[in-house]
Amino acid sequence: MKPENLNDIVGSDRHHLWHHLVQHKPWQSSDPMVIVEGKGLRVKDANGREYLDAVSGGVWTVNVGYGRESIADAVRDQIVKMCYFANSAGNIPGAQFAEKLIDKMPGMSRVYYANSGSEANEKGFKLVRQLAALKNGGKKHKIIYRDRDYHGTTITTLSAGGQAQRKDQYGPFTPGFVEIPHCLAYRDPRGDDPDYGVKAAQDLEKVILAEDPDTVGSVCLEPITAGGGVIVPPEGYWETVQEICSKYGVLIHIDEVVCGMGRTGKWFGYQHFGVKPDIVTMAKGVASGYAAISVMVTTEDLFNEFLAEPSDQLHYFRDISTFGGCAGGPAAALENMRIIEAENLLDNVNRMGDYLMDRLYELKDKHAVIGDVRGKGLFCGAELVRDRETREPLEEGLVAGVAADCLQQGVMIGRTNRSLPQYNNTLCLSPALICSKDDIDEIVAAIDVALGNLAN
Ligand SMILES: Cc1ncc(COP(=O)(O)O)c(C=O)c1O
Repeated sequence: MKPENLNDIVGSDRHHLWHHLVQHKPWQSSDPMVIVEGKGLRVKDANGREYLDAVSGGVWTVNVGYGRESIADAVRDQIVKMCYFANSAGNIPGAQFAEKLIDKMPGMSRVYYANSGSEANEKGFKLVRQLAALKNGGKKHKIIYRDRDYHGTTITTLSAGGQAQRKDQYGPFTPGFVEIPHCLAYRDPRGDDPDYGVKAAQDLEKVILAEDPDTVGSVCLEPITAGGGVIVPPEGYWETVQEICSKYGVLIHIDEVVCGMGRTGKWFGYQHFGVKPDIVTMAKGVASGYAAISVMVTTEDLFNEFLAEPSDQLHYFRDISTFGGCAGGPAAALENMRIIEAENLLDNVNRMGDYLMDRLYELKDKHAVIGDVRGKGLFCGAELVRDRETREPLEEGLVAGVAADCLQQGVMIGRTNRSLPQYNNTLCLSPALICSKDDIDEIVAAIDVALGNLAN
């Protein structure tokens, strides 16, 4: 596209687009950023400026990097042949991807297609509600979620959201959702206890008992909390959650929308912790953003609960997602998975993830403003504080300034934002799974400069 046309595009964007998650007022006098191309980890804006993208498309999505012609070809070939049919019928890539996905998820069995993370999570909630109606006279309908976790943007997924600022002004919410505390040792007075993981998980048992176990259907958790501050659950946490859920007959719904497909160095985040989920949802990395596809996966046992004589007009999962029938989604997902395997990207994530953590610890030694460094694989965060002793969080505006400084230097980093009152103070890094040591050095160098500028 010629530069003069790009100016028109920026003008059209400025006058007619309503962007996600941003205040538009500043764009009355300046231009929004328009991203026009990408290759590998790098993107270019409409002014031709190149950036190293350390957050995989802003929201940990483009796992295999930009410019993958083989995914584009797979989608093109599929949609020319058969673009869409409602998923009450099947399609070829849908069946093929389901089988390959289940191969990576021992114990899981059934794949249900949708098109966003929020939607996949809503399916999980609907399963629990319907199961309660079918088996327990509606009683076991409550869904437990955790402080700081996020499960989506719809009113019901916000009802299951542990990020108060995201929920602000959008209530009233769907009833039947109950919160448990987060498990971030750094922000919990019990955090130094060697048994902290077990104790934090026991909060779940307290809530189940307080609510009455007969009313609790499931607990929906991120395996590692993403936008709530990159929180890797402490040792013993997941094992204890599993025990508690087995004891009270509570289903485990794991939201892998961010961790899914390799981000943490295994196919799924929960696989680090030996937990056995009943429901797993995933979206962003499933096709690395090359197609809008999300997936809910369940066990065969759960699936079987919905088998009945066809004459029973209510005893099956009466849910549909129009675009869950887009055949381009699983076609992209199949090729995305092939790339992860062919290029040994899980190994790369483990090696580069360790390197990134080491480099972040170096930064922590150098800059007192870093209070805590956390992460697994290429999914890392650095929490910024005013004072290491008191752990007083750095103000969101200053944290935003660090990200803006990095952007000025040509590196896009992420940060928790407008999610948790007072605690929007974590820098987030999730470069594509293909990233190299040189990329990490470039990312860390930019943060180093930005933190130096912050101190001056
Ligand atoms: C953990 C998690 N779950 C669910 C969602 C919602 O996904 P979507 O924006 O595709 O609806 C997100 C989005 O950021 C997420 O981080």
